Amino acid sequence: MSAPPVVDLPIEDERLAQDVANGLAAVEKLLRSSVESEDAFVTEASKHLIEAGGKRFRTLMVLLAAQFGDPSAPGVVPGAVVIELTHLGSLYHDDVMDEAPVRRGSPSANARWDNTVAILTGDYLFAQASDILADLGPELIRIQAQTFSRLVQGQIRETIGPRAGEDPIAHYLNVLADKTGSLIAASGRFGALLSGAPADVEERLSRACEAIGVAFQLGDDLLDVASTGVQSGKTPGTDLREGIKTLPVLYALAADDSPRLTSLLSGPVAEEDVEEALTLLRAHPAMDRARAELEAWADRARADISGLPDIPARAAFLALCDYVVQRSG
Ligand code: IPE
Ligand code: IPE
Ligand code: MG
Ligand code: MG
Repeated sequence: MSAPPVVDLPIEDERLAQDVANGLAAVEKLLRSSVESEDAFVTEASKHLIEAGGKRFRTLMVLLAAQFGDPSAPGVVPGAVVIELTHLGSLYHDDVMDEAPVRRGSPSANARWDNTVAILTGDYLFAQASDILADLGPELIRIQAQTFSRLVQGQIRETIGPRAGEDPIAHYLNVLADKTGSLIAASGRFGALLSGAPADVEERLSRACEAIGVAFQLGDDLLDVASTGVQSGKTPGTDLREGIKTLPVLYALAADDSPRLTSLLSGPVAEEDVEEALTLLRAHPAMDRARAELEAWADRARADISGLPDIPARAAFLALCDYVVQRSG
């Protein structure tokens, strides 16, 4: 199983394509050096997932957002590394919580070592992110803190599930905005702020990126059902095994038109039933409904992006919306 490749956006403008390629290379270099420790094992455990791959989707968003100011401003690359390290640390922890054996086409850290190593390596990555962030100033530190607070609370609410009387679909969409939308929104905001883009552009980018983030996570949830694992670099059915009721599952449960599927999806799906649950769910109209919700979030993002200054990065953001829609098939 291989990892999904770095997002390869069709960027027509040559200068922008070159800027983005240079930015990605600079982020990669700093990302790797930022996790170097005097302890060889700490370095190895941290580099494990960096070297396994990853799409660098959030890095790309920081770099594109920075085009609305001065993209060569000195904080842009470190800012992208802070976001990517935060994302990476959250993946080390997420795979412990989700008991996921595979990440980026490689064994997860918890599978390769154990939960303790995965949790502490995640903590180390957050610490390294804070160290870089300290040089970017109090405003960025606060945004990062508030973002991380939302991300963690989203993960907690996903684990706890909806309260009695709470609409499970509204609950889940809020979880997605917090656990995933928050950091993707921060990617747009970091790029705007660190490049000195105007405040109205910063707000618009942050809003658009949050909607892209929700769409992206909806796509991820669809891929957990629909993909073979080669495409995602992860183990399909992980959400079902963990009993995490993602949107296709919630729609199928609400339809309640297949007693067998309803019974399978009512709690965590036992290993021996996962294949059957996946087959039934793939054929259920709930998949198309969830896809329509994803497209609605991409459309919201597009509407905001259309109000941005007409520079090549605006077209690239629109292409990013297409990418998020197409990714889940
Ligand atoms: C995975 O994010 C976690 C989600 C929020 C869906 P990505 O799909 O961006 O993971 P990598 O960085 O490419 O591995
Ligand atoms: C990941 O959500 C969200 C965060 C890490 C904050 P998921 O658990 O749905 O993502 P994958 O499918 O494991 O990448
Ligand atoms: Mg997970
Ligand atoms: Mg999870």
